[in-house]
Amino acid sequence: MSKPENIGIHGIEVYFPSTYVAQEDLEKFDGVSQGKYTLGLGQTNMAFCGDREDIYSLSLNAVNNLMEKFNVDPNSIGRLEVGTETVIDKSKSVKTVLMDLFAKHGNTSIDGVDTINACYGGTSALHNALQWIESSYWDGRNAIVVAGDIAVYEKGPARPTGGAGVVAMLIGPNAPITFETGLRGVHMENVYDFYKPDMDSEYPRVDGKLSISCYFRAIDNCYNRYAKTFEKKYGKTFSLDQVDYALFHSPYNKLVQKSFGRMLYNDFLNNKNDPRYASLEAYKNVKPEDTYFDSTLEKALTALTKNDYANKVAPTTLLAKQLGNTYCGSTYSGLLSLLDDKSNELVGKRVLTFSYGSGLAASAFSFKVEKPIDNIVEKVDLKNRLAKRVRVEPEIFTEKLSLRETRHNLKNYVPSDSTSNMFPGSFYLSSVDNAGIRKYDRAYSTSAFVGAFQRRQQISQSSIKSMNLFRATKSVLLCLKK
Ligand code: ACO
Repeated sequence: MSKPENIGIHGIEVYFPSTYVAQEDLEKFDGVSQGKYTLGLGQTNMAFCGDREDIYSLSLNAVNNLMEKFNVDPNSIGRLEVGTETVIDKSKSVKTVLMDLFAKHGNTSIDGVDTINACYGGTSALHNALQWIESSYWDGRNAIVVAGDIAVYEKGPARPTGGAGVVAMLIGPNAPITFETGLRGVHMENVYDFYKPDMDSEYPRVDGKLSISCYFRAIDNCYNRYAKTFEKKYGKTFSLDQVDYALFHSPYNKLVQKSFGRMLYNDFLNNKNDPRYASLEAYKNVKPEDTYFDSTLEKALTALTKNDYANKVAPTTLLAKQLGNTYCGSTYSGLLSLLDDKSNELVGKRVLTFSYGSGLAASAFSFKVEKPIDNIVEKVDLKNRLAKRVRVEPEIFTEKLSLRETRHNLKNYVPSDSTSNMFPGSFYLSSVDNAGIRKYDRAYSTSAFVGAFQRRQQISQSSIKSMNLFRATKSVLLCLKK
């Protein structure tokens, strides 16, 4: 077998719940000052789940949709990795649940399990897949990487920084979006900025300000370590000038804006006499760790990066603003937003990526787009799907989170939420038995029946209309089960 080259992303898909709450509505409901969530945090909407969805159903949807859209033969997959921190079982991995999608086609030879560390598990899973394909263990098949979470916080200032969504990526050689091999800067340390020690609750314990300082420290380290690998590989100085797009783990958009500024601050520290940074003169001798919350420096960096932010970062931000923080999925929802926004304009461009998970684990690495990607953008159909979501009142959102609280760790129940608003064909939780075993079903609507039937049987609308309804329903169910 020849050495695999240009390893990267062949296909990408995101699954998000069909309901969301608007941050402007939440500001009023929470009684905070107008603009706090929309301008202060920079967020627009937040996706959430009721009791019909869990990390298993979200991941089933993401992988199933990826496979359908990108025509993936279940037997062509040799590795399946999941990065998530949404844990509903202390032993059984999400990956094993996803095996249902492959075992029915005779493929149980799929390596990989789950990787957990706050929002970083997805990146670690992605790096595992890349390294498997580069290794002597690779058998020529592709990998699928799943990254995402249901992010919920107790009532209080962190609640508007929740979200929900799962990204699935098809990874293999000769890909249109490739990893830049050998380029990576890693920073990991032991810190309690955000963690989940309470097994009886979905909610994390979080020290918001500490998490922000940890995030900035991780950027400083990862950015400079990535720069060293870049300089070694290409023999030239690295700075933001070498970056076409910058992609960040996005807990909320304002932090992304500040983080891009933080990268420029590192360029300044590496080249203090460059006249472009004259406005930062006063910071020549200030320690970086003393500047995390320096608002004067922040303003200067915002002014210096204003144009570059609009060109290099804003195109990556759609999903994170619309779904909220999808934890492990966040960085990759940013990549999807960028693909959707720029499509084939990305060919030949470098995307610097920063992934952060509290606790903490972080890295910077980069992708390059090598071939046209308009077919990916078309299949994902992002904006149309976002437009089909249902906006609900904050009262309902709060009720659903309270419902999830009562369901957490519960056994022997049937979820009470309606499935009528779900996207057609979505997997949902149908029951949990008294041993904690979860069962899933799929939401079908008439249009989904007809669409699925036509896809499978290639017959016309009129011939469906003329069929006996019972017979039609039965044959569609049989088709969908295949
Ligand atoms: N109009 C415009 N801006 C406003 C308004 C208003 N009416 N009110 C407040 N703001 C601004 C503030 O000035 C502040 O701006 P700044 O960040 O530039 O200083 C911003 O809105 C946020 O306001 P704060 O009062 O600082 O926010 P608060 O203390 O309520 O909480 C926090 C923010 C810490 C992010 C909280 O939501 C949280 O803990 N989230 C979870 C932790 C998190 O996401 N950490 C990030 C990395 S780790 C991870 O991914 C989980």
